[in-house]
Order: sequence, then C-alpha cells, then structure tokens
Amino acid sequence: MRKPTVLLLVLAACSSGPRLPHVTPSETEVEVRGAVKGGPYPLGRAELAALPQRSVRGLDPESGRAATWEGTALAALVSDRVERTRGADVVIVRTRDRRAVPVPLTLVRQLQPVLADRADGQPLPERVIAWPTFDQRGLETDPRARLWWARGVVALELANSFTTYGRALAVPDGAADGARLGADRFGARCIGCHRVRKAGGEAGPNLSRLTDRMTADALYARMRAGHPGWSDGPEDPGPAAARQVWSFLRAVAAFEGTGAAEEPGPPEKDPVEEERRRERPPRP
Ligand code: HEC
Repeated sequence: MRKPTVLLLVLAACSSGPRLPHVTPSETEVEVRGAVKGGPYPLGRAELAALPQRSVRGLDPESGRAATWEGTALAALVSDRVERTRGADVVIVRTRDRRAVPVPLTLVRQLQPVLADRADGQPLPERVIAWPTFDQRGLETDPRARLWWARGVVALELANSFTTYGRALAVPDGAADGARLGADRFGARCIGCHRVRKAGGEAGPNLSRLTDRMTADALYARMRAGHPGWSDGPEDPGPAAARQVWSFLRAVAAFEGTGAAEEPGPPEKDPVEEERRRERPPRP
C-alpha cells in the first residue's frame, strides 16, 4: 500500500512546476536569456509581479542606503522557473549602463537576493539586485558583493562561467606570476565594464589589445587619476598593481595576436618579471 504514495512523491519532486511565461509584454523590463531552454523570455512589470516575491534587509554599498528591499525573487527568474542548458552556472546581470556583472547561481540559491523594485515600500527608479547583507554575515566583507548590487538591471543572461569568464581571465603558461595577480584584479574590478576575449561589460572600451597602445606607466597614471574600480578609498593600490594588470592584458593581447583562439602567443617581455630580474643580483 505504501508504494503508490512514494511514487507520487517522486513524481511530484521531478515535475518541472510552473515556468516563466512566454508573452510579448507591452514594455519589457527585464529579459531572461542565454543558456535557457525556450528563451529568451522578455518580462514586463505584470509578469515580474506575478512571480514569487521576496524582501531582504540590506545595505546598498554604493548609495549607503539601508532598507528593506522588495521585488521578484532572483532565484525564480534564473533557477527555479527556467530550464537551463547544461553547464549554465552563472547569471550575467546586464544593466542599462552596459555593465555585465557575473553572479554564481549557487550564491543566488543560497542567499536568495531580490530583483527589487521597491525599498521601504517606495518604488525605485530602476531595478536593483538587493542582497540580505544584514542577515548573511560574510556578505559585507566579500569584495565582489559591491558589484553584485547591480542597478538598472535590463537582462539576466545564463552562461557557463568557464567558457566565458574563466577563458577570458586565463593566463597562458609561461606568463609571469604578476599576470596572474593582474587577472585576479581585473576579474574582480574591471571586467564588469570592459570586455576582454569576448567576455565582460561594455560600459568602457574593449581592452583585449590595450597594451598595443598603452604602456604600464600610462595605465597606472590613468588609474590613479580616479578611474572607477581602481581603489575603494583614499588608498592607491600602487604602481605594482597597475603593472600586474598591464601584464595580464599584455598576455591577452599576445594571445589575440596569434589569431588562434586557444593558442597562447609567443613569450612576451613582462614588466614585472623584468623588474624582478633587475632587482635580483646577477649570479656569480
Ligand atoms: C564603472 C565602469 C568601469 C570600471 C569598473 C572600469 N572602467 Fe575603465 N573605462 C570605463 C569607461 C566608461 C571608459 C571610457 C571613458 C574613459 O576613458 O574614462 C574607460 C576607459 C578605460 C581605459 C582607457 C582605454 C583606452 O582605450 O584608452 C583603460 C585603460 C581602462 N578603462 C582600464 C580599466 C581598468 C584596468 C579597470 C579596473 C581596475 C577599469 N578600467 C574599470 C569604465 C570603467
């Protein structure tokens, strides 16, 4: 007698449940697209309001505003109500100012952020991804969390993080350690606005070939003149950090230069390595 119940439960767990609606909204607010079956899904105000709603208490790191943020549960839009194609593990949040912010799907499921259109009951001028910073300890201190509060969200694009960001930030074998640190910095602070190797935002120019036209010193001068993302406060990360980013971009340009997508370019002079070489006393 117990078997049918168990079978029903299993069936219920496997059934796909409600999906995102397929409509042509009079005005699209947010589009769900990328590695999602049956997509893209353009959604208007009414469709977003009909999906599961949530609220989180958090502090917007850019405006410094603490509030209760309300709106559509982000997990409903990118995880619970869509069928993703294999390997999709990141949502690239695209904004009106052409930024592209990668957010891992595991985090969306764990922390349950909100695509908010209200704060403390008041309508917001644009949709914000709001995070529960008051109830999830680690969030305030994670340096990437600042980016995850994306404003003016227009699209949620599902993708595979390796074939997009992982590949874009890969450092060819043989590049100096400095390039690797530069890739980390670039991935955390620059890629949201700049493209390299087909991934990243488009708020600023594509930097895949920057080092053909800019020296490491010029890059540093440009950054410390107050470029967005360079530093969080009065402290300047310094010329070594700029040189690391430059070395990473040099490796990217060399790679682009070969024309072969997967082949690293010829070994390049690396300013960090060169400096190290100068500092090292010659061996007897
Ligand atoms: C908020 C968006 C944003 C972020 C973050 C950002 N940039 Fe930019 N960047 C821009 C925009 C917009 C421009 C074009 C206008 C200008 O030159 O300021 C630009 C221009 C540049 C240029 C000049 C490009 C050229 O071809 O002359 C460089 C170099 C650059 N950025 C590097 C960086 C680096 C390195 C980082 C990370 C530390 C970074 N940017 C972070 C928006 C951004």
